[in-house]
Amino acid sequence: MTIRAVVTGVGHYLPERVMENAEFEKLVDTSDEWIRSRSGIERRHIAAEGETTSSLGANAARAALADAGKAAEEVDAIILATSTPDLTFPSAATMVQRELGMTHGFAFDVQAVCAGFVYALTTANAMIVTGQAKRVLVIGAETFSRIIDWTDRTTCVLFGDGAGALLLEAQEGEGSSADRGILAADLNSDGRHRDILYVDGGVSTGTTGHLRMEGREVFRHAVEKLAQTAQMSLEKAGLTAEDIDWVVPHQANIRIIQGTAKKLGLGMEKVVVTVQDHGNTSAASIPLALSVGRANGQIRDGDLVVTEAIGGGLAWGSVVLRW
Ligand SMILES: CC(C)(COP(=O)(O)OP(=O)(O)OC[C@H]1O[C@@H](n2cnc3c(N)ncnc32)[C@H](O)[C@@H]1OP(=O)(O)O)[C@@H](O)C(=O)NCCC(=O)NCCS
Repeated sequence: MTIRAVVTGVGHYLPERVMENAEFEKLVDTSDEWIRSRSGIERRHIAAEGETTSSLGANAARAALADAGKAAEEVDAIILATSTPDLTFPSAATMVQRELGMTHGFAFDVQAVCAGFVYALTTANAMIVTGQAKRVLVIGAETFSRIIDWTDRTTCVLFGDGAGALLLEAQEGEGSSADRGILAADLNSDGRHRDILYVDGGVSTGTTGHLRMEGREVFRHAVEKLAQTAQMSLEKAGLTAEDIDWVVPHQANIRIIQGTAKKLGLGMEKVVVTVQDHGNTSAASIPLALSVGRANGQIRDGDLVVTEAIGGGLAWGSVVLRW
């Protein structure tokens, strides 16, 4: 018998305010056409005053619990991936725990920027297969609109706010790649690339800071490393790209998504794409795309799903799971 961490619920939350590309034409020297053609992004959601990463995350968590037909009292742990927590501490995860009225178990944040959800899923899986928790809420939530430099046209047009969540539960499997649940994961980081994607503030500066990025450099690393990590986790699961039903990539740029699919030898009909509607929501992008893909009937029970992401650090990784 093998313990597997199986997805039993998924949900998401997006702030009400939608900002179309055209609105940026009034803020910086850009155009809807440039943003669409270089990134694939058409619009993004922006958190309202008073909305925070933890409030977005709590809404997504409620949706995932409702999808699973479970209550917060039945959850053992909350792992929340974010690089835009409400405060330096406590963790946004404990704030979600409080919002859900959950007074038992444990909650903590994971910070691996845009790769955060893949890191959080891998951590939750490790806790479930080693018996430390039976039911874990894994959340990706971000308010990148608060760390964007709204005067920098090379970055401000690319990001958005939102949250997504999965409920993972321990179930028995056979130990084969036909099992439901997380089958393999692959995590990587390389701190030498700090300066191509970072926020120029934090405890050491006494400011929140703004996101800074050398987009062309990040792009160059992304396609290569994403295809590599997807192949590595497939290999660990004893599977190949031909077995994939859906790739659910981090949604940063349609050209990165297309380039990675091509490297894996997959057509775009096997890729869940939400970047046009959400922009880059960092750690929230994968659970948001999983939730949208599930809601619109793309991802079905038994489907083999590969998620992959890369972000600041650089940090990157992938997870292979059977829904
Ligand atoms: C940012 C990104 C969309 C830029 O696309 P690109 O094709 O690489 O474009 P470049 O950076 O080469 O810029 C081309 C030109 O467009 C200009 N430009 C940049 N942003 C612009 C904007 N919003 N509107 C109009 N022009 C813009 C640049 O200044 C540059 O002009 P120049 O040639 O006169 O210097 C792309 O590099 C990218 O997506 N990178 C990865 C970013 C990412 O996903 N990061 C998150 C990972 S988690």
